Amino acid sequence: MKSPIAILGAGNMASALALNLARHKRPVRLYCIEPDVEEDLRKNACNTKYMAGHRFPKHVTASNDLAVVLKDAEDVFVAVPSFAVAEVMEKAKPYLSSKIKSIASITKGLDPKTLKPLVVAEAELVPSSLRKKVCTLGGPAIATEMAKGSPTGFVIAGRDKATLNRVKKLLETDHLKCATSLDLLGVGLASALKNPYAIALGMCDGLKHPTNAKALLLTIAIEEMEHVLVKAGAKLETASGLAGLGDLIVTGMSPHGRNRTYGERLVGAKSKLPADLGLGTVEGIAATGLALKLARNVKARAPLLESIDRCLSKRDNFERPFVDYLKNLTLV
Ligand SMILES: NC(=O)c1ccc[n+]([C@@H]2O[C@H](COP(=O)([O-])OP(=O)(O)OC[C@H]3O[C@@H](n4cnc5c(N)ncnc54)[C@H](O)[C@@H]3O)[C@@H](O)[C@H]2O)c1
Repeated sequence: MKSPIAILGAGNMASALALNLARHKRPVRLYCIEPDVEEDLRKNACNTKYMAGHRFPKHVTASNDLAVVLKDAEDVFVAVPSFAVAEVMEKAKPYLSSKIKSIASITKGLDPKTLKPLVVAEAELVPSSLRKKVCTLGGPAIATEMAKGSPTGFVIAGRDKATLNRVKKLLETDHLKCATSLDLLGVGLASALKNPYAIALGMCDGLKHPTNAKALLLTIAIEEMEHVLVKAGAKLETASGLAGLGDLIVTGMSPHGRNRTYGERLVGAKSKLPADLGLGTVEGIAATGLALKLARNVKARAPLLESIDRCLSKRDNFERPFVDYLKNLTLV
């Protein structure tokens, strides 16, 4: 039997990855904790809840048993939301064998305890022999567009060139291209930081500020991101690459972006909005406070991030700190 590929998660991105990876004709196993999704995949070869309109080949299967999903797997992808990653990796740990050649995480966020990118925290959770095989996928990649074959680019970042090249080879198709980077910290930080800034771009939409304001904020966001990255020990150029600028454009401009939509709906909201707007997890809410803590710890100036944090902490007039930020903005 060809070696299996395990995907932890069975949501939007996990499904897009499964559809891509299935072409290798290796068994692709999704770790799925939702019985209705598992049944849909088993009975109908569909994932109507997260990726409607696609049929999955027979060798894509789903199970809620990590022992089954990870048995003999050589390549593992992690595609659960940020709040679940520590729990899932802890549960997976006993089944991560020495056969594993790559662990690629697409989960974006910061570890609440250490303020390190989640992928760095994930690398610390796996057995030490597998540590250098952990990498992250950053970049502007909306799962549904990717699944439809729309041209898409990832940056795969990690510490081991051979692992990066292996994951690149696994993922690349005529329409999916991958860069590689040894700046694991930078790609992890940029991927987490773009979510709070996407909330600010969403507030521009809510305030009916069209293109000028969004372009201004996008530029400021990348400058702040550069500042935080460099002070935290990452590479400056990572902020203006696929994981920073690229992903911020997609997250902050796409009408479907959860963080952008959250920012848009925050404007004029009468009460605190639920963290999940019925759209799935809005990861930028938790990421804002953590990113600001990190910026303060490394002594990086981040006034735009501060204003987003103040908006999210208010009980009413949520957009006020952002409006004040724009009014008092000094450009040098
Ligand atoms: N959707 C995208 O376009 C996209 C693009 C790039 C990166 N990502 C990243 O991928 C990650 C997943 O996002 P998504 O959009 O696929 O989310 P989603 O909400 O569509 O799916 C989440 C999946 O994780 C599972 N899950 C949740 N809690 C779990 C737990 N405790 N244990 C096991 N499984 C659990 C859910 O059942 C579901 O299968 C996020 O960090 C996101 O930032 C998503």
